[in-house]
Order: sequence, then C-alpha cells, then structure tokens
Amino acid sequence: MRGRMLIERARDARKRAYAPYSGYEVGAALVTRKTGKVFTGANVENASYGATVCAERVAVWSALAAGQSKFSALAVVTPGTEPAPPCGMCLQVLSEFCDDLEILLAAAESDEVIETSLAELMPLQFRM
Ligand code: THU
Repeated sequence: MRGRMLIERARDARKRAYAPYSGYEVGAALVTRKTGKVFTGANVENASYGATVCAERVAVWSALAAGQSKFSALAVVTPGTEPAPPCGMCLQVLSEFCDDLEILLAAAESDEVIETSLAELMPLQFRM
C-alpha cells in the first residue's frame, strides 16, 4: 500500500479516537508484511488515566488478535500542524514484533509527512 493511502487510513481511524480527557486524538494504520492487510487503531482514554491505550498499540493489538504479527509500515496521524512520533512505550511494543518498520508521521492540519523508521526512532531496542 502506498504511503499516502496508509496515511488516509490513519486519518480515518483517528475519527474513532476516544480522548475526552486530553482532547488529543490520534489515528494509526499498520500494514502486514506478506498480505498487505491494514489494521487501524485510535487512542482510547480512561478516567483512570493510566488505563489509556495509544492508537499505535490499539492497531498492534487488533492485528495480533487477527493472527498477524509481521508488519512493514505504520502511519500515525496526530493533532495540529506538526507530525509527532509514537511514544516510547509504543516504540517498545512495535520493536517486540518488528526488527525494522517504515514509519510515516502526519499531522491532522497539514500535508507535511515525515518518513522515518523504527530503527531511527529507537536504535537500541530492549529484547530478552
Ligand atoms: N497517544 C497516542 O495515541 N499515541 C502516542 O504515541 C502518543 C500519545 C495518545 C495517548 C493519550 O490518549 C493522548 O495521546 C495524549 O497523550
């Protein structure tokens, strides 16, 4: 799937964010390596703030629940005009399943796209 299309999937997923506490709505779209299937996610907050789950991890959980654990690309759409990277916890979760992963960062109110990778954002990955 081409990058722009994957970003559109993340933009669409962002509409389903549940973020009444922060107001910060995030969408993510993850492509499986062999089949090219796309799994999406949006952040889900909770009144007990620590129970909140980021959009990226919702997409990963959704893929895993469908039996898919090999990924080739992730697109993330965050609010405002500046693209933002996944948080450290999401990078750690992604690194559990991907040696490397193309990552496209986009912002809701701009056309700017940052093309990066898991290896660039998290060069040393904790593994056991
Ligand atoms: N959030 C994400 O969905 N992804 C990230 O990588 C960073 C943060 C969400 C969590 C919370 O609902 C809101 O953004 C503010 O932190």
